[in-house]
Amino acid sequence: MTRNSLPEMLAPDTSGIARATEILAAGGLVAVPTETVYGLAARADSDAAVAAIYRAKGRPDFNPLIVHVPDLAAAEALAHFDDRARRLAGAFWPGALTLVLPRRADARLAAAVTAGLPTVALRCPAHRVMKDLLGAAGFALAAPSANQSGAVSPTSAAHVAASLGARVDAIIDGGECLTGIESTILALRADGNWEILRPGPITKDHISEVLGTENEAVTSAGGVEAPGQLASHYAPGKPVRLDAKEARPGEFLIGFDEVAGQVSLSLAGDLAEAASRLYACLHLAAQASEQRVAVAPIPDEGIGAAINDRLRRAAA
Ligand code: TXA
Ligand code: MG
Repeated sequence: MTRNSLPEMLAPDTSGIARATEILAAGGLVAVPTETVYGLAARADSDAAVAAIYRAKGRPDFNPLIVHVPDLAAAEALAHFDDRARRLAGAFWPGALTLVLPRRADARLAAAVTAGLPTVALRCPAHRVMKDLLGAAGFALAAPSANQSGAVSPTSAAHVAASLGARVDAIIDGGECLTGIESTILALRADGNWEILRPGPITKDHISEVLGTENEAVTSAGGVEAPGQLASHYAPGKPVRLDAKEARPGEFLIGFDEVAGQVSLSLAGDLAEAASRLYACLHLAAQASEQRVAVAPIPDEGIGAAINDRLRRAAA
């Protein structure tokens, strides 16, 4: 695939999905909406296609990718599922939970997908367009968020075009992502422990309801095992100040609840709405004339924990 012209913009319909399938089958890159954020998809069984993802994002090659599958059966062809993994998939798939599991020796995955780890990160997405694409393609799709490495994640086709432009062959425009924040990454250990490597829409409480609390391992600072959890992720390219009750001179304030701001994550103080608007607000902050960004305090409960995780990284 050549990547010297603007990406093809595809409609989220049968013909758009057929064209996307054709590009992916030939080893190209297609940005696809999911319920969390837009993903930069390539066939997960091709070394060349997976290498193109790392190149397009400028992503360090020690940072493995999430593999997207249409269903549990496709997932079980790639990783070893124990009883816990099956119960979690039953409870939360399709949806915003990524499971880190032991990779099967015979898994049809390019080596670079897992960056040399003995595990693989698997997710069965709920978005209609991504589901249709996985069904039409017949191969698993590696898909990190469709942004330049370290930059703010995309929740619209326009965000993808602005960040990756001609580095991607096509973009399926499926409108805005409703959940708006990346999937929860959960590692299930062979010793029976589990650990959240990245907080997300499926919260610790949701997971405890399925797995109980006794085997929860305490995450070592920043979850080093998921190398993508680098401190500088999600940065709008300007200094970010958190827990701001009001704007200081020269600051673009992102509000929440009674802190109004130039834009608000949610005037009603609704955390789900705040998650869905987080990256759009950070994109607006990046484009604003102000040289600094401030963000109102966000309660650390439910999906608020994931919002604060991303904000701390944006501010680092
Ligand atoms: O919601 C999402 O998860 C989105 C959409 C597109 O599905 N994808 C996404 O991918 O956020 P990405 O590449 O931006 O984040 C993948 C994360 C990284 O932090 C990476 O280090 C971690 O997953 N990861 C991948 N494979 C892993 C593994 N085997 N063990 C531990 N962490 C892994
Ligand atoms: Mg990302």
